[in-house]
Amino acid sequence: MSTVGERPVVIVTGCGSGIGWELARVLRQSHEFRVAVTARKHHREQLEKQFHPDADFRLYDLDVTDESDIYRVVHEVCRTWGRIDSLINNAAVCYRGVVEHMDSESERKQLETNYLGPMTLVRAVLPIMREQRSGQIINVSSASGFLAVPTMGSYSASKHALEGATESLWYESRPFGIKVNLLELGFVNSHSFQKVVLSKKAEISSAVEGPHAEFYATITPFIEKFMSLSPATPEKVARKIVRVLKSPPSRLRVSLTPDAVLFAIVRKMVPSALFNRMAYWTLPGSKTWGRSWRLKTVGRYVS
Ligand SMILES: NC(=O)c1ccc[n+]([C@@H]2O[C@H](COP(=O)([O-])OP(=O)(O)OC[C@H]3O[C@@H](n4cnc5c(N)ncnc54)[C@H](OP(=O)(O)O)[C@@H]3O)[C@@H](O)[C@H]2O)c1
Repeated sequence: MSTVGERPVVIVTGCGSGIGWELARVLRQSHEFRVAVTARKHHREQLEKQFHPDADFRLYDLDVTDESDIYRVVHEVCRTWGRIDSLINNAAVCYRGVVEHMDSESERKQLETNYLGPMTLVRAVLPIMREQRSGQIINVSSASGFLAVPTMGSYSASKHALEGATESLWYESRPFGIKVNLLELGFVNSHSFQKVVLSKKAEISSAVEGPHAEFYATITPFIEKFMSLSPATPEKVARKIVRVLKSPPSRLRVSLTPDAVLFAIVRKMVPSALFNRMAYWTLPGSKTWGRSWRLKTVGRYVS
C-alpha cells in the first residue's frame, strides 16, 4: 500500500446516493484515507454541502459511461496525490423487464454503466498500481452476478459480465501485487429500488395485463418486500467495504450480506438443473405466471 505515514488514496464511484453516499460518509469519518468521491454532476451541490471537501477529501464529477471523464479524473487524482491505492467500482443502474420487454438502448446503458465503465476505470488505474507494485480493485457486484430471477435478466447479465472479467483480473493482477475483490450483495434495505427503471414495454404490459403481467405483479413486490425486511443497510454495507479496504481478503469473492452468503452456498451445492426448477416453484407467484395470457388464448380458440 502507500508509503509509511501516507494515507492510502481511494477512488469511489457513484457516491450521489445509497451505498456510495454512505461509503463517502464512513471514509470521511475514519480520517484514514485520502478520498476521491465521485458522482454525476447533478449530485455535486448536495455532496459539497454534506461533506465540505478539503485537501484530503475531494469531489470529482464523474459519469462512468464517459471514457474521457474517467481518464480526466484518474489523471487529476494522480496529479493531486501522486498515487492511487484503491478503486471502488460502486456506481450502477438497474433497468428491469422480462427479456422480451427490454430495448437495446436500455441494455446498452446498463452494460455501459455496470460493466464497460468499471472496466475502463480498471484499465485507467492498473498501470499506476502496477508501477506502485500495490493496489486494490473492488468491484461491487450482487447475488445477480451468479444467479438470475425473472425481470432482472439485463441487470444480471451486466453483473455476470463484471464477475467474469473480474475473475480474469484476479489472476492477471496477482503477480503485480494488486488485490482484486468482488463484493457480492444480496438485498439491501435502501431506496435504490425507487431508482430502478422499468422498460416501456414492461410498463405497458403491466397496464394492459399483457402476457407477462403476472411476472411484474409478483416479482416487483417480492423484491421490494425483501429489500425492506433486509437487515443490511447501506451504512452497514459501507462499513464492511471499508473493512475490506483496510484488510483485503486474498479470495476473489466476498459475500457482504447474510442472504448473499446463503444464495452463494445454495447455488454451489444444488446442481443447476435442480436449482432452476426449485427456484421456479419457490419464487412467489410462479404458479400464476402467464395465466391471463393462457386464459385469453384458450378463450380465443374456444370462441
Ligand atoms: N441496493 C441493493 O439491494 C443492491 C443489491 C445488490 C447489489 N447492489 C449494488 O450496490 C451498488 C450500489 O447500489 P445502491 O444500492 O447504492 O444503489 P443506488 O442508490 O441506486 O446507487 C447507485 C449510484 O450509482 C450512480 N450512477 C448511476 N449511473 C451512473 C453513471 N453513469 N456514472 C456515475 N454514477 C452513476 C447513481 O447516481 P445517479 O443518481 O446519478 O444515477 C447512484 O448514486 C451497485 O453496484 C449495485 O448494483 C445493490
